Amino acid sequence: MNLLVTGGAGFIGSNYCRHVLQHHPEDSISVLDALTYAGSLSTIRDMETDPRFRFHQGRIEDPKIVDRIIQEDKIDAIVNFAAETHNDRSLIDAGDFLTSNVIGVHVLLVATRRHKLQRMLHVSTDEVYGSISSGEFTEESPLMPNTPYSASKAAGDLQCRAHFVSFGTPVIVTRGGNTYGPYQYPEKLISFFCARLMDNKKVPVYGEGSQVREWIHVMDHASGIDTALRMGSPGQVYNVGDSNERRNMEVVEILLDELGKSRELIKHIPDPREGAHDTRYSMSADKLQGLGWKPSKTFEESLRDTVRWYVDNERWWRPITQRLEYQTFVKSFYGPGLGEDL
Ligand code: TYD
Repeated sequence: MNLLVTGGAGFIGSNYCRHVLQHHPEDSISVLDALTYAGSLSTIRDMETDPRFRFHQGRIEDPKIVDRIIQEDKIDAIVNFAAETHNDRSLIDAGDFLTSNVIGVHVLLVATRRHKLQRMLHVSTDEVYGSISSGEFTEESPLMPNTPYSASKAAGDLQCRAHFVSFGTPVIVTRGGNTYGPYQYPEKLISFFCARLMDNKKVPVYGEGSQVREWIHVMDHASGIDTALRMGSPGQVYNVGDSNERRNMEVVEILLDELGKSRELIKHIPDPREGAHDTRYSMSADKLQGLGWKPSKTFEESLRDTVRWYVDNERWWRPITQRLEYQTFVKSFYGPGLGEDL
């Protein structure tokens, strides 16, 4: 298949490209990426010389570039990773989230239909279900998003459903858990904390750190998406989860131990998400496992591998943390003292 991977210069998208190049020698990949703050050519450098890999810069909301790539690169299917993804940023200003996560998805759905593509796979998140105090979400659970970010993702998911029902567009939605691993922009819990701890800077734990997240390694997430793309049925939703539920503090303590850092680097701060902070995420991935997918390693093994990757790949993340945009966000969100008096 010739795949159009939108958002392929970002975290999960680039790792999905690695998965495809390694496991499907007959496939080719055309990446379309806007190279916003979270996407970078340094994230796809290792694939640039592969003749099966092409890069195009542009936005998914631009139907002209989407149409041109589909025609010129003879695309069979779209896999959409392009999205604004950081909850904390969505609390400051959600405008870009609506553009990418809703309008962008609409443009890709229209293109899938117009060009009669075999498939579109839309990558979403378990956060569209909202928080669950006990039990687990299934694909049938109602969508109850609590942040501007998760509400924008839910809106994209509903566009997919509507295009399947209205036009028979062959679209599949996956909803993944909290994802970690190589090439994650250092603003999410694990990547942000690895980068700070390596510089012996304090790490800001929101409140008591008692929230529970269901974690999945990015290569397991990538293989789950790929299974849904190739084995799933149009119009269906598949949860991609690994049942690794951990409290935030448990994750932070593993990071500290792995990096050999003192507990004194933990700084509990008043929760900046307040009412929007989901207490627990948990979902069943039985439906995807029914297609033959299963995750590869344990959470502790994969988390240790991830910490080693950040230690070994400072060349990748250090330039990001030195950018003005990055430092401005960190200072404005956490206060100017972050790093000095945190
Ligand atoms: P995050 O990695 O931003 O993912 P999500 O919001 O999609 O769950 O956050 C994971 C958890 O870690 C969440 O409960 C918020 C918490 N957190 C902190 O305590 N400190 C931080 O600096 C960040 C970024 C997150």
